Amino acid sequence: MGSSTRLAIRGGDPMVPAGTVQPWPPVDEIDREMVLASLQGGKHTFGPNCTAFQDEFAAWNGNRYAITTNSGTAALHMGVFACGCGAGDEVIVPAYSWSSSATCVLQHNSIPVFVDIDYDTMNIDVGRIEAAITHKTKAIIVVHLHGLPVEMGSVLQMARKHGLKVIEDACQAHGAEYRGRKVGTFGDCAAFSFNQNKSLCSGEGGMFVTDDDELRQRAQMLWSFGETRAPVEARDYHAYAMGWMYRNNDLTAAFGRAQLTKLDGYLAQQTENALALHKELQGVPYLILPRVPEGMKHNWYNYVIRFDLRALRAVSERWASVQPSAARDRLLDAIVAEGVPLTVWQRFILPAMTVFQAKNGYGQGCPWTCPYGQQVDYAVERYPVAQAHCDTHACMVMALRAPNGPDVARALGRGIRKVMENVSQIW
Ligand SMILES: Cc1ncc(COP(=O)(O)O)c(C=O)c1O
Repeated sequence: MGSSTRLAIRGGDPMVPAGTVQPWPPVDEIDREMVLASLQGGKHTFGPNCTAFQDEFAAWNGNRYAITTNSGTAALHMGVFACGCGAGDEVIVPAYSWSSSATCVLQHNSIPVFVDIDYDTMNIDVGRIEAAITHKTKAIIVVHLHGLPVEMGSVLQMARKHGLKVIEDACQAHGAEYRGRKVGTFGDCAAFSFNQNKSLCSGEGGMFVTDDDELRQRAQMLWSFGETRAPVEARDYHAYAMGWMYRNNDLTAAFGRAQLTKLDGYLAQQTENALALHKELQGVPYLILPRVPEGMKHNWYNYVIRFDLRALRAVSERWASVQPSAARDRLLDAIVAEGVPLTVWQRFILPAMTVFQAKNGYGQGCPWTCPYGQQVDYAVERYPVAQAHCDTHACMVMALRAPNGPDVARALGRGIRKVMENVSQIW
């Protein structure tokens, strides 16, 4: 066996030398100047950078209103409340996403109803949504997962037919487009996240966006202590309703504003890198590569592959001797040893998470057995596509971002290729 084909887990040289991948996000003079100016500005709570960040993000995305928050989860919870979801109301959610795409529903004592995903897009299977609608359904949360837009035409048509609100979880999907329009402009409202993984990073943070003034006002009330006035207006410090403290602070907003000036460039770079990796992986055995349906612009927040375990089993029975997720992990360990930061994005589908299996939301059965609630079945077998995807996927997140270029993406692809062309060395 030549040294170039001996896998690193078998003592060969790693394909990608340490130090090849640069960390995300790049920080330059613009960031330093804006954050320092905020620090020296003396207004550290909801300051001038917060209002400016709202205006600039709304303009960038094409929304009338934006409210800056301390997380994407906060923005999702604001959406649930703004859309009028309350005790016992049902909200439709994809069975595979980040936990808070669904726990934001519980936060308002509403009940998530899961719908399986579509294998090709990894997004909610829009063809299954209608069957999940009951007289209790109030809203649909769609998640533009990994940066690929959901088929919004069908979702909006169904929502109109049944009088439902639509909340877009665009936490991963900055700049993704459906039929030429940015996500976050289709539903009644949307949430974005700016944590460090995201294509726009302010450390932590998020944005609630809407075009509807009534929704903006309701969201703002929940955002700031149940008050009816924004912090920049004269306040009466009166809680008119349940409220949280979801506001952003000036330093974080300054960082977010600085990064926003570079966002279009970052998105172009991560797209170029993802396409370079995609090209490098063409023809690599035992991989199922992502696919972008017509009319969609992926932002390539996350490049997700699936291992074709069926094809591997046809070659060797050993691949069938362990659980699919264990077989995936074995491949992953070999790829990581080559210096490729491939990772698992989620190890559990949403209904399998303890909060739903144990139904330990607000305690004492709430919201499911509170007087307004009802039981829903979270049996994992009801979501076979999400489970199959979850068990066999692997992904590349920040390594495909600036300042890394397509040369890095191609090197990472070569590391994956080396392992997949030499799988016989794995056992
Ligand atoms: C799809 C999705 N929804 C919601 C969130 C929550 O965002 P945050 O971490 O800013 O609360 C995230 C990210 O963590 C996410 O990826």
